[in-house]
Amino acid sequence: MGSKPVSIHGQWSSRWAFTLAATGSAVGLGNIWKFPYITGENGGGAFVLVYLVCIALIGIPIMMAEVMLGRRGRQSPVNTMKALALEAGQSPYWKWLGGLGMVAGFLILSYYSVIAGWALAYVFRTAFGVFTLATPKGVDSIFAHFIAAPEGLLFWHTLFMVMTMIVVARGVQGGLEKLVKFLMPGLFIMLVVLVGYAMNSGDFIQGLHFLFYPDFSKITRNGVLIAMGHAFFTLSLGMGAIMVYGSYLPNHASIARTSVIIALADTLVALMAGMVIFPIVFANNLQPGSGPGLIFQTLPLAFGHMPGGAFFGTLFFILVTFAAWSSSISLIEPAVAWLVENRGVSRIHASVTMGILCWLFGFLTIFSFNLLANFTPLDMFEHFKGKTLFDLLDYLTSDIMLPLGGFLIAIFSAWIMKREASRDGLEMEEGLAYMSWRFLVRYITPIAVMIVFLRAIEVI
Ligand code: PHE
Repeated sequence: MGSKPVSIHGQWSSRWAFTLAATGSAVGLGNIWKFPYITGENGGGAFVLVYLVCIALIGIPIMMAEVMLGRRGRQSPVNTMKALALEAGQSPYWKWLGGLGMVAGFLILSYYSVIAGWALAYVFRTAFGVFTLATPKGVDSIFAHFIAAPEGLLFWHTLFMVMTMIVVARGVQGGLEKLVKFLMPGLFIMLVVLVGYAMNSGDFIQGLHFLFYPDFSKITRNGVLIAMGHAFFTLSLGMGAIMVYGSYLPNHASIARTSVIIALADTLVALMAGMVIFPIVFANNLQPGSGPGLIFQTLPLAFGHMPGGAFFGTLFFILVTFAAWSSSISLIEPAVAWLVENRGVSRIHASVTMGILCWLFGFLTIFSFNLLANFTPLDMFEHFKGKTLFDLLDYLTSDIMLPLGGFLIAIFSAWIMKREASRDGLEMEEGLAYMSWRFLVRYITPIAVMIVFLRAIEVI
């Protein structure tokens, strides 16, 4: 087939624009909100180590595979998978792999938007000085009251969803490129400032120890699965987001180099977020394992006590919101591109349709923190005891759907696709780099995902 020159949806203006957009997709709530709290829940250092190994050995090769598939197919993940499967003389049903990803992205966005709404609400709270000189208990209770009221959460969720759909409706180049160019450096600078604060005012040594000292007795089989799932989540892999972004990538841009840059930037942001949060946790006798509220219970404390805290705090939550924003658009893009291609509707129509569906689904997450906080439907299984609908949704998507998607992407690109096709797609010479990539996606990724899955359900 050879690559089509461009996608009908448009194209990034350069490799650099793609790098920023993909970094924008990767860096999000996963780094600043989720990474610290799941690290806290899973005992720290050992968990972080497993996560880093997964990024290097699974994340980077799968990212390369996804970008390559996208750029070669030049369509939404569903149609890309179908076209590439046909090219390889295989069943068109590989399109279901794209379908699986589309559904995963949709489900993730339904809760992602609710949490991004929390960040949005906290922009205003910090700006109004709500946390000035607050005590740890005070900050805690503000958060508890906040999530207990569904109509408030609904308001912020709605706002965030509208923001997302506006950008998606405007298309690939319609502002996003310009936006991320300012956002990413801004976020980074803010994190540096906050690390400085945590060094001075937090228990920095204990924070570092928690984050980097691996105590393997603290990590469970399920913890390993969560670490691996998070490697997929944080790099936006396994569901077609990076694939669809790859379909807008110009030819002759090095996929390998770009993927490494994106993964490094993403990892750095996550580790820095950890270095901000844990020192504050330990200095204030908070619990690292306190769950999804962690950053909303720690950072306001820091802001409440530092000079200019209301200002920096506001800026920080704005940046978190923006980081979430540049990720949320990539969560829904595969579904929107697919609707446009298969139903012939306009981009605006497709965005509104998907947006409304996703918004409705978000109710499940909203109610998980209040009306349905005690609704834990899978209590009969030890594994899922005490998990709310939000917890289950998160588990299903991050820890099952994304690794499964990644597994199938690996199988497809290293076993189904012809060797020349993947080499041509990656624009790599036959040589050590290409062979290492192929070895990783052919053997290491599928085997690792299988082992981690089977151990988590205690089969081996
Ligand atoms: N990578 C994003 C984050 O870390 C979340 C995401 C997952 C985005 C999957 C797109 C696809 O917040």
